Amino acid sequence: MFIIIFLFLQTQALFYPMQVHLSWTENPSEMRVSWQSRLNGKALISYRPIFCGNSSDWTNIEAETTRIDFGTEMFRYSFVHTGVMNNLSPDCHYEYSVSNGYFSSDNFVFYGRTPGQDKRSSYKMLVYGDLGTHDYGKKTFNLMKTMAETEEILGVFHMGDIGYNLNSQQGLIGDKFLNMIKPIASSHAYMTVPGNHEKANNYTAYKQRFTMPRNEANQNTSYFYSFDIGPVHYVLLNTNPYLKTSLKDERDTQTNWLIQDLKKANENRISVPWIITLHHHLLYCSHDPSDSGSRKDCEVQAAVIRHNLEEIYYENKVDLVLSGHVHHYERQASIYKNETVYGDVDELNKHVNANAPIYIISGSAGNRIKKNDPTAPNPCLWTRFMSNDFGFGTLTVLNETVLLWEQFSSETNKMIDWVYIIKYFKKLNS
Ligand SMILES: *[C@@H]1O[C@H](CO)[C@@H](O)[C@H](O)[C@H]1NC(C)=O
Ligand SMILES: *[C@@H]1O[C@H](CO)[C@@H](O)[C@H](O)[C@H]1NC(C)=O
Ligand SMILES: *[C@@H]1O[C@H](CO)[C@@H](O)[C@H](O)[C@H]1NC(C)=O
Ligand SMILES: *[C@@H]1O[C@H](CO)[C@@H](O)[C@H](O)[C@H]1NC(C)=O
Ligand SMILES: *[C@@H]1O[C@H](CO)[C@@H](O)[C@H](O)[C@H]1NC(C)=O
Ligand SMILES: [Fe+2]
Repeated sequence: MFIIIFLFLQTQALFYPMQVHLSWTENPSEMRVSWQSRLNGKALISYRPIFCGNSSDWTNIEAETTRIDFGTEMFRYSFVHTGVMNNLSPDCHYEYSVSNGYFSSDNFVFYGRTPGQDKRSSYKMLVYGDLGTHDYGKKTFNLMKTMAETEEILGVFHMGDIGYNLNSQQGLIGDKFLNMIKPIASSHAYMTVPGNHEKANNYTAYKQRFTMPRNEANQNTSYFYSFDIGPVHYVLLNTNPYLKTSLKDERDTQTNWLIQDLKKANENRISVPWIITLHHHLLYCSHDPSDSGSRKDCEVQAAVIRHNLEEIYYENKVDLVLSGHVHHYERQASIYKNETVYGDVDELNKHVNANAPIYIISGSAGNRIKKNDPTAPNPCLWTRFMSNDFGFGTLTVLNETVLLWEQFSSETNKMIDWVYIIKYFKKLNS
């Protein structure tokens, strides 16, 4: 009897919509919802505004469906459904559910503020790289979930190395990861870029599960994209092509787009003063030279990434560069050509009018089953703070003058590091 009930519950779970997650699109006032299920009926999305003065009628839209076969093992197929909710207002929250034509999900709620839509400044994003599904990743995730339940978080940036690996065990690990993040991702835009762990089969498993803003330059792959939220222009890049010489076309396509994108962002800087880039691989990291893994990440690969991006970032006055890949936390000062560059004020927890990008690595969300990478015994001169603790970061955009970065440890449940990044406008013609 027990076994029959158990099997029934398992089967039922399989047939319900699973892995419900949100992402912003290339257009303002839109939210994409994607999910999977084993049943292929008429996939529908129902949503309506709540907590605001607008009409609360449900809008129903049909979702696109793609069947994916994860492998040869029995029953390893699924239907991926995706669709876009539109005409969202930043004054409203939205309630929604998805259905595979037979069964509906629970109702979830998200906030209608999206990129490119309004100029209000203040909001907070969760930011990290390298999050998996073992105990450390779960612990970090649970702390983030508590934060997302107790304060308003606008969205998430996951800078590559997602689930370890989405394609592993015929996609079972991908299922496990997406089910793990559902409590946050079903109510907040979960924005990603690929890391080295997403490369398998030309990103097949990544593409099946994450659809990010598309544009012509990225040929709808959505591996790189940019958008504005309030006073910040965000640029998300795929750093993998820089590390493989044969991928010259992918690399050039992205770099040419990046240069154009930053040029436009600079022309718009009076209304959107901040530029932040995010990607998996880093430009700088302090490391233990006797550790061969860190040597590869921090000397060999970092030098290649710098060769491709540092000049572009410096010339275009990028304010902040966030990355993961190395499994620890390291906050750095403003750097150019491996030297600290001083601004008007450079205190341990405060920079005012920096003259080169500030770099932060937050790759300690919880990689696989091992402990984080050891921090450097002799940090470089530009290092401001390092930690081995598992955890995640938050970026708080306070207004057009002040950003606050904080790093939280999921081992002690404490905030372990912070920095205020402040920029005053120098008046033109003065
Ligand atoms: C809500 O109402 C305002 C004012 O009538 C309108 O401008 C806006 O488009 C509406 N938003 C939605 C989501 O219907
Ligand atoms: C990988 O995907 C990209 C974009 O869809 C495509 O341009 C490229 O040819 C693919 N590469 C291989 C080896 O299949
Ligand atoms: C990208 O998607 C748009 C909208 O679906 C389509 O019109 C366009 O042809 C696509 N471009 C490429 C290069 O696939
Ligand atoms: C960068 O500077 C540090 C000292 O802060 C030095 O140890 C390191 O070798 C330098 N790296 C390069 C690539 O010049
Ligand atoms: C920006 O926020 C900071 C910190 O809350 C505050 O001190 C400052 O006055 C604000 N500046 C503007 C222009 O609103
Ligand atoms: Fe990585």
